[in-house]
Amino acid sequence: MDTEPQFFETNAAPGVVGQPMNRVDGWAKVTGQARYSAEYNRLPGLVHAVLKTSDVAKGRITGFDTSAAQRQPGVLAILTHQNLPKLAKTPNNPDDKKAFVSSPMGFFPMESDEVHYAGQPVAIVVADTLEHAQYAAALVQVRIAAEAPISSYQDPKAQRYVPKTVKGTAGVTKRGDAQAAVQSAPVQLTATYTHAANHHNPMEPGATTAHWEAPDRLTVYDTTQGVSETQKTLAAMLGLSTEQVRVVNKYLGGGFGCKAWVWPHVVLAPLAAKAVGRPVKLVLTRQQQYTGMGHREEQEQTLRLGATKDGKLLGIVHEKTSTTSPWDDYAETNSRIINMLYALPAFESTYHLAKASVMTSTSTRAPGDMPGSFALECSMDDLAYQLGLDPIQIRLLNYAEKDPTNGHPWSSKSLKQCYERGAELFGWARRNPKNGQTRNGKLLVGWGMATASYPVHNSQGNARVRLYADGRAVVQSGATDLGTGTYTIITQVAADALGLPPENIRFELGDTVLPSTQWSGGSTAAGRVSSSVYLAAQEVWQKLIKLAVTDNKSPLYGAKPADVVVEQGRLQLKARPATGEAYAEVMKRASMGDVEGSAQGRYGSSYRVPGVAADANMNKEEKEAAAGRSMHAFGTHFCEVEVDPELGTIRVTRWVSVMSAGRILNPKTARSQVIGGSIFGIGAALMEQTVRDPHLARYTNADLAGYHVPVNADIPDMTVDFIDEHDPYVNAMGVKGIGEISIVGVTAAVANAVFHATGRRLRSLPMTPDKVL
Ligand code: MOS
Repeated sequence: MDTEPQFFETNAAPGVVGQPMNRVDGWAKVTGQARYSAEYNRLPGLVHAVLKTSDVAKGRITGFDTSAAQRQPGVLAILTHQNLPKLAKTPNNPDDKKAFVSSPMGFFPMESDEVHYAGQPVAIVVADTLEHAQYAAALVQVRIAAEAPISSYQDPKAQRYVPKTVKGTAGVTKRGDAQAAVQSAPVQLTATYTHAANHHNPMEPGATTAHWEAPDRLTVYDTTQGVSETQKTLAAMLGLSTEQVRVVNKYLGGGFGCKAWVWPHVVLAPLAAKAVGRPVKLVLTRQQQYTGMGHREEQEQTLRLGATKDGKLLGIVHEKTSTTSPWDDYAETNSRIINMLYALPAFESTYHLAKASVMTSTSTRAPGDMPGSFALECSMDDLAYQLGLDPIQIRLLNYAEKDPTNGHPWSSKSLKQCYERGAELFGWARRNPKNGQTRNGKLLVGWGMATASYPVHNSQGNARVRLYADGRAVVQSGATDLGTGTYTIITQVAADALGLPPENIRFELGDTVLPSTQWSGGSTAAGRVSSSVYLAAQEVWQKLIKLAVTDNKSPLYGAKPADVVVEQGRLQLKARPATGEAYAEVMKRASMGDVEGSAQGRYGSSYRVPGVAADANMNKEEKEAAAGRSMHAFGTHFCEVEVDPELGTIRVTRWVSVMSAGRILNPKTARSQVIGGSIFGIGAALMEQTVRDPHLARYTNADLAGYHVPVNADIPDMTVDFIDEHDPYVNAMGVKGIGEISIVGVTAAVANAVFHATGRRLRSLPMTPDKVL
């Protein structure tokens, strides 16, 4: 190990990083010992809160009749906007909104008589048992003067507008003159794609348990993807300082973006707890989950593409229209991936929004890139078909050797290898270039593929490593594990960095008392937390090396720290490995029971390659390039479908995904991420849709009976592979996230396979049988 931390080289041989290690939290989960946010049931005097929500999508509350509910046994409080403890800051006030790092809506319910969406909380009943609270809530009468709602952008009453910005992206973006490029292009394609509203549907619904341990000390157990963001936002809204709020999340039953934010119930639970003076547990019902934690918005995209006769892209003009809430200009930013995926000389994008009586939609696995890739990757398939080119060939023709949006080189890109490996695993060379020609009995068989990409978002966070003299270690970072494997991969990284077996490592996460780190969102956690932990372990070694070289009883006494390396817990001279000693010896002589290191890991372009400035081997361009690289993970999906021409059913019969995402810390958990994202995407392609009633603006299928997600019988065995990729620029560990890229391109791969099978291009998701026939 050098004094400057370098790109991670394992200190243990053979290492566990890169091994398909089983989940360290597996036993706790299958034996029920893993405690989720709704399972802190031993809190003293814990009581239960139930939300009463509005059936009406738009109107004003004119009164409540709570008398029958009040008379029920066990009822402790019935809270409405008339008697709810006041918030210090609310997003309803634009000046306050800046204080909230993770409040997703510019509206907080129960602050006034306004009703803006069906499912909006209008009352909270607190009772000694869940059943008492549920029954009393059913007896609360809410009188609402209803007005005609607007149900979506498709509502004839909806007014479309172009916002100034959506999520930090300009409402209109231009790179070059895409309009002119498309208009004068020898080959032109125009197509419109629609995407139904989708819901995340994690197995574990939103749940918040709030405990005021003192009037100025609040602990919240919450289903959040980011304890630190929730802590800061709750503190601001409740008028507390950050250190007065503790947020805990040890286990999550899925998140997919809906648990990335502080939704109303997360704030209402502490308010209710304050009102009754007891800890309160509030769990959303499955139905409330559909109106309580956001969704992927329904949307329409028109993509106009211009190309040369050889198939080289000249320009793309993209327009998106989608529904937003009455208060926010929110849309997932589909333009990002369309702008960067291919060597595209000119691009223009416009977002159109229409306000409707719905809550603000939110981040849903690969927000923007997922539906954006549907439009782009179907259009690329159309272009290939029109020019008589293979779908992979058209993509190689337009391969972006550098980032077309800014001309920067990529930190790493192995997409060509993904195409090659995927094609080989799938047997793509045997594909019949003609559509509608391949049959399996009466079923039409089709093969399709698509490209995937997801950016490396900047983030940073801290970790602490405490190494004990007895060869055990506690590793801490206030990260969250959505169920995807954070516990496991960080244990592996710590084991290798400390030269210890993984069973000697305890990794603690999910608590704001731990070193703070940013959320598990945007596929940032694996790269950021692994780097923080790796660097914290290096600090431990630096401390011990310093100790050894100044200890005249050490064989390393007098050596330069830079000449000492660590191999499996042994400090030794780089040039003469025989000279050295076990770290435990150094600690014993110093009477140290343990030694701590802490560090901040950086992910994305905030990361600076250590030693770059001093690296004599790099010329000026290389140094500049190291500081200005575009960072993305890349991949590809291949799909086979069988379409029943009589029933209109589509079945996915084969699947291959190949991803390049830097260092793969654990191929088992990474594979699970990729099959999870692919299945999520197959769901969106074939069956998932939330339907809002056009007159009442109320969801008609807000449960898992009416909202269809794929089950085992819908999904074939899936093949997942990874390209070895060494990326020294993304972070100290060379890791790119894999949670979101796995869904990008999936809907297009399925639609392209359906096109190949049937010769019919379906551009409306989900591709239900009625659309196939
Ligand atoms: Mo993700 S949609 O950033 O949890």
